[in-house]
Amino acid sequence: MDIARQLHDYRERVERGLATLLPPAQLRPRRLHEAMRYSLQAGGKRLRPTLVLASAELWGSKHDALPAAVALECIHTYSLVHDDLPCMDNDDLRRGRPTAHRQFDEATALLAGDALLTFAFQLLARHYRNHSTLCTALLTEFAEAAGSEHLIGGQMEDLLAEKKSTVTAEELDYIHLHKTAAIITAAFVTGGLCGGASETDLAQLRLTGRRVGLAFQIIDDVLDATADTATLGKTAGKDARADKTTYVKLHGLDASRQHARTQSDAAIASLAQLPGETNFLRTLIEQMVSRTH
Ligand code: IPE
Ligand code: IPE
Ligand code: MG
Ligand code: MG
Ligand code: MG
Repeated sequence: MDIARQLHDYRERVERGLATLLPPAQLRPRRLHEAMRYSLQAGGKRLRPTLVLASAELWGSKHDALPAAVALECIHTYSLVHDDLPCMDNDDLRRGRPTAHRQFDEATALLAGDALLTFAFQLLARHYRNHSTLCTALLTEFAEAAGSEHLIGGQMEDLLAEKKSTVTAEELDYIHLHKTAAIITAAFVTGGLCGGASETDLAQLRLTGRRVGLAFQIIDDVLDATADTATLGKTAGKDARADKTTYVKLHGLDASRQHARTQSDAAIASLAQLPGETNFLRTLIEQMVSRTH
C-alpha cells in the first residue's frame, strides 16, 4: 500500500475512534460536551494518534491502540484550547475555525480543556483495565508527559520567556522539548506499549520521539514566520508580533530548517534500529520537515 493511502487509512481510523469514543454532544451539560467535540472534531493533522497506531503496528499491535491514540489526541487538543486562551497566546483561529473561547466563551473553553484532559485518563482506564501492567504503564506515560515536568512545564517556560530580555538556546530547547516533544515522545512510547515492545525498543522509541518532537516544533516556528493563515488554519506571524523567542528568532530561518533536518535525520536513524516495517514512519518523519501546515 502506498504511504498516502496508509496515512489516509490511519486518519480515518482516528476520526472514527474520536466519533465513537467521545461523550456524545447531547450529553448534559450539553454546552460542555459540544465544546469538547467542537475542538476535537475541527480537523487537525492527527499526527500524534497516527504515530501511536503506526508504532504499535511495528510489533503487530498486541493490544488495540486506538483508545490510547484517541486519548493522546484529547490531551493534545486540550493543550491547544488552553494555549489559545487570552491569558496565554490569545489566538482567534485554530484548525481553520474560531478558537473554542471565541466560539463559546472563555470559561467554557477552560472547562472543555479540563474535561478533555481528564477524559483521556478515563479512556485509558476504561479500555485497558483488564491488562493491568499495560494500563499502569500507559497512565504513567500520559501523566508524566502531560504534567508539570513536561508539557505544562514547557508551556510555563514559554510564557516566562516572553517577559525576559534574553532567552538562551538552552532555554528555548527546554521549551520545545517539554511543550511539544514530550507528547510526541509519548505517542511513540504508547504505540510501543500497546504493540508489546521490549524495554530496549521502548528506549529507542523515546529517543526517536524526542528528535521528531524537536524537529516538529522547529518547523512550527518556521511556518509561523513563513506560511499564511489560510494554509495554517491558525494565525500566521503571531510569534513575531508577540515577540516570542522561537527557533527563527534565535537562529534564523535557514539554520532553523537545517536544525529540523538534522533532528529528523537522527530520528530516522534511531527508527531504523526498531524491528518491523518502518517505511511508513520513516516517510512520515521525512514529510514532517517539508510540511506546509
Ligand atoms: C500544534 O500542533 C501545536 C504544536 C505542538 C506545534 P499540530 O500542528 O499538530 O496541530 P494540529 O493537531 O494539526 O491542529
Ligand atoms: C504550543 O506551541 C504547544 C502546545 C503545547 C500547545 P505554540 O503556541 O507554538 O502552538 P501554536 O503555534 O499555537 O499551534
Ligand atoms: Mg504557545
Ligand atoms: Mg500558540
Ligand atoms: Mg506555534
